[in-house]
Amino acid sequence: MAETDQALPPSDQLAAMNLTDTVEKHAFSDRVLIRSIVGRPDGGAGLAGQRVRAGGWVKTGREQGKGTFAFLELNDGSCPANLQVIVDAGLAVLSKLVATGTCVVVDGILKVPPEGTRQKIELRVEKVVSVGEVDPAKYPIPKTKLTLEFLRDHLHLRARTNTIAAIARIRNALAFATHSFFQEHNFLYVHTPILTTSDCEGAGEMFQVTTLISESEKLEKELIKNPPPSEVDIEAARQVVSERVEAVKQLKAAKASKSEITASVAELNKAKENLSKLEERSKLKPGIPKKDGKIDYTQDFFARQAFLTVSGQLQVETYACAVSNVYTFGPTFRAEHSHTSRHLAEFWMVEPEIAFADLQDDMNCAEAYVKYMCNWLLDKCLDDMLFMAKSYDKGCIDRLRMVASIPFVRISYTEAVELLEEAVRGGKKFENEVKWGIDLASEHERYLTEVKFQKPVIVYNYPKGIKAFYMRLNDDLKTVAAMDVLVPKVGELIGGSQREERYEVIRERILEVGLPLEPYEWYLDLRRYGTVKHCGFGLGFERMILFATGIENIRDVIPFPRYPGRADL
Ligand code: 4AD
Ligand code: MG
Repeated sequence: MAETDQALPPSDQLAAMNLTDTVEKHAFSDRVLIRSIVGRPDGGAGLAGQRVRAGGWVKTGREQGKGTFAFLELNDGSCPANLQVIVDAGLAVLSKLVATGTCVVVDGILKVPPEGTRQKIELRVEKVVSVGEVDPAKYPIPKTKLTLEFLRDHLHLRARTNTIAAIARIRNALAFATHSFFQEHNFLYVHTPILTTSDCEGAGEMFQVTTLISESEKLEKELIKNPPPSEVDIEAARQVVSERVEAVKQLKAAKASKSEITASVAELNKAKENLSKLEERSKLKPGIPKKDGKIDYTQDFFARQAFLTVSGQLQVETYACAVSNVYTFGPTFRAEHSHTSRHLAEFWMVEPEIAFADLQDDMNCAEAYVKYMCNWLLDKCLDDMLFMAKSYDKGCIDRLRMVASIPFVRISYTEAVELLEEAVRGGKKFENEVKWGIDLASEHERYLTEVKFQKPVIVYNYPKGIKAFYMRLNDDLKTVAAMDVLVPKVGELIGGSQREERYEVIRERILEVGLPLEPYEWYLDLRRYGTVKHCGFGLGFERMILFATGIENIRDVIPFPRYPGRADL
């Protein structure tokens, strides 16, 4: 029920309903969302006269009229716009309300402000319900314009800023769009493991997960506190066992009573137990357990080496090869030492996998998905996108419109290299040499998408030597059915391929790239039993946000960035 409904008598209530909409109280908190006031097409004007409770953090506040009242710009994160709030001096100590970052909850009446003001509605406060004060001298993110770099040192408070809050809403919208797109197309959302024992990309960039180190540290401490038994201790314990054996023997020879013998056997067992405990402890050695000079992973938590996943692809393929259309969307981890504005050590990836589909289908799906996300933002996040356009990247909205409406360019790797060589002949300078066989560098990708075509470009059929083992070998035996989607501002947004579904061929490829067969036997089973043509791709979720918002550094579009040297919170 709306706050105001309770305050008005029934007849007035009806009249108010007829005149204006009512503003709904939030279902799970005792206030209305600021978005439900200022986010309306009329900016909230139609709600004049209604009583509401609002809560939020002060963006800017100032005392006016010689301290008789204060203006507060209140934001609760539900939308980029603030609610203007006016508090009279009689209601609170105004100086405690105006500092940026102060949290206030207020009851009041919505009023149309005087002509000539920017706001369509403002809240005249009748009661200050609560205040979470801020000492402006100590608050780490006061009002002044702060750089995104500075904010990275204050991760726990940076969501209070307009930029990081807008990015959070855009990120949320893109996640929703992702599920919506795949659900609409009958894909099943599959949760693939974060802890894995297989290296999908075979690039050796995995974070290892082990308890061997903490266990060995624990043991080291324990052994200092409680040293292992010496040879003398063990010998003494052995002696006790021999004595007990002897005692039992003698009792038996003397035909002692049953109860006497039982008691003596119990003593013997105790002595044996004590000895074996001491022997066990004497084997404990500080340090990581080794066998034949190598780390003994059979003693590790999973009894083998384990890692954080670099991609859910291999596991999601098991579901694609059973329930046909699937996707996974989760965090992935890469221990690359890249300090670029496009790489994170922990990032989120959306990975669909489609059975009965080839590289063309894969490209069609990738293109449709990216377009869908662009339309979604234009449709549902325009206020935040306008903020991004105003503050960071003038062209970001036009870029979304362009990408949503025009077909992506599709060129083979060989054509891409020819275009780059042509550019070099025309005087273009690249840091990395261009020739057939190279892995395209970021500068090459960006040249193609930003300069040459100025729109998204899908490059397909890459040389097999630079791509992962699971990609389908083309008939030329030199290239694989891979595809990368390159977009302006970012370069590579998506990497995908048709998968090698032929048992003999993929087995050869695994060996060819120098990987052991054993860990991939389960993956080979998908080809041994009921193999199927299939394909898929991975979209770097943060790169999609970079592309959409025009933000320059990937560290600013994930709530808690992890990169070499930093993992705050
Ligand atoms: O091209 P990648 O390595 O492809 C795979 O992992 C495949 N297994 C995906 C699949 O076919 N299911 O990574 C996919 C995308 C890249 O195009 C890029 O957008 C993003 O993931 N990406 C990163 N994003 C942020 N930081 C990093 N370190 C990234 N590495 C890759
Ligand atoms: Mg890639």
